Amino acid sequence: MELYDGPTPISDDELRRRLSDKHGLICVLNDRITAGVLDAAPHLKVVANIAVGFDNIDIAAARSRNVIVTNTPDVLTNATAELTWALILSLTRRVTEGDRLVRRKGWKGWTLDFMLGTELRGKQLGIIGRGRIGRAVGEKAPAFGMDVVFAARGGRSAPDLRELSLDELLISSDVVSIHTPMTPENRHLIDRKALARMKRTAFLINTARGPIVDEEALAWALQERLIAGAALDVYEREPDVFPALLEMENVVLAPHLGSATRETRTAMIELAVKNVLAVVQGRPALTPVS
Ligand code: DGY
Repeated sequence: MELYDGPTPISDDELRRRLSDKHGLICVLNDRITAGVLDAAPHLKVVANIAVGFDNIDIAAARSRNVIVTNTPDVLTNATAELTWALILSLTRRVTEGDRLVRRKGWKGWTLDFMLGTELRGKQLGIIGRGRIGRAVGEKAPAFGMDVVFAARGGRSAPDLRELSLDELLISSDVVSIHTPMTPENRHLIDRKALARMKRTAFLINTARGPIVDEEALAWALQERLIAGAALDVYEREPDVFPALLEMENVVLAPHLGSATRETRTAMIELAVKNVLAVVQGRPALTPVS
């Protein structure tokens, strides 16, 4: 067994070199497992990603080389849903903006109309995606008095959810939260056109994958006041953030913390280890990527 615990992601060359005699790989979302990497690992049987998303892995290349890919669904659903609500509340009640003001000693004291935010009760939460995390976010909405609608591409519509087309969801929601996987079709799903459909008073939240939102278009929509604010946990080119977004008070920026609780990260690691052990010992993987 070999462990890489360097401060930056392992280089492609080093990954290839270390994989040359390995049967299993446990990796994280900023390790890019390409066809070339898989070719450098002739004995590899399993790639266990410590993440529910697996857009960092060339699934077709793995399948054609009989390498099983696993992810960590379920165990991070609640943590990611909680983080989503943390972002919704921080944004609509201007918590991080207020924190910055207090720290730079800009707060002059309480006044009736100071730093007014937006109340959630009676508003509509639009969730893009009808998977586990989107549903878990939606389940917490009644606690804040919000109505919930969903929009998802493809798949079977769910009778227990109120589903709209993406366009209808964008036009009618007060908070739009993205919970859909990163696929080629979803790249820039939220572009200038989509942002222009949203209410001028609406907020956009992304805790899924950065490239689903066109960051340049988002900065434009915020500059043009086409939407009221945005909260992001994920970015197109992590850890870089589109520079204009860094300057905006009505943008909350988190450093990809969706699953970052001790409980959840422990469970994710345990699940990845169990997946590798199962496959190398000849048993079925617990959570293969279908
Ligand atoms: C995932 O699991 O895909 C998350 O982005 C990691 O926190």
